Amino acid sequence: PVTVYPSQDEASVKVAERIATIIKDKQAKGEKAVLGLATGATPVKVYKELVRMHKEDGLSFNNVVTFNLDEYYPMLPTAEQSYVAFMNKHLFSHVDIPQENINIPDGTLAPEDVQAFCEAYEQKISNLGGLDIQLLGIGRTGHIGFNEPGSAPNSGTRLVTLDDLTRRDASREFGGKENVPTKAITMGVGTIFKAKEIVLMAWNEKKAEIVKKAVEGEISSEIPATYLQMSDHVEFVLDEDAASALT
Ligand code: F6R
Repeated sequence: PVTVYPSQDEASVKVAERIATIIKDKQAKGEKAVLGLATGATPVKVYKELVRMHKEDGLSFNNVVTFNLDEYYPMLPTAEQSYVAFMNKHLFSHVDIPQENINIPDGTLAPEDVQAFCEAYEQKISNLGGLDIQLLGIGRTGHIGFNEPGSAPNSGTRLVTLDDLTRRDASREFGGKENVPTKAITMGVGTIFKAKEIVLMAWNEKKAEIVKKAVEGEISSEIPATYLQMSDHVEFVLDEDAASALT
């Protein structure tokens, strides 16, 4: 289903409430909440609201385990462009999540260790009973995570090559496209599909065209986000501008 909100702020609060409900339901049962998280501009206000809930409403993250979708490769966790730095800045350093419950693909691995790491990442998710919810943004190539055009629907966590448009879109943070890594480690489309709930968020006019293709276009590896049309537990959460090209 597609849900359109008047603004990004309202949509982000709704998504944060949904996550908080999962966390609290699991707490009541003495279980862990397993969250699949995204970086980038899109989820920033969701994290802001979760931090507010922690500080003002007493929402605890002590039973939360997180798995981020992706990380650039190679990438040092201490670099300001790393997704480790992003997550610390926007969420982790402000809440009471145990450090050992945080999982982000490792951008410092030796090439020969990447495959084993990716397999272990998948295994760790399934050992915890799978992702309770996966947050997604969408890139202008139609990528989810860093599953660029050509990605298979059953793909798992792996090393991928970033699309030129994706690197261009990241060039500002890196001070030039030439500084953007050419590769990343990402959860696969198949990994994402196994989540119990999937929430794809998109805001702003500049996402309208790719959102239209993702929601209404023919399912194709050319636009990996179209694969989500095959899932019965996905919700597209949009603001009016991102939804403006939908028929
Ligand atoms: C980030 C990720 C990407 C972004 C997408 C949109 O972890 O996996 O798929 O969600 O590139 O980025 P923003 O939100 O910056 O427009």
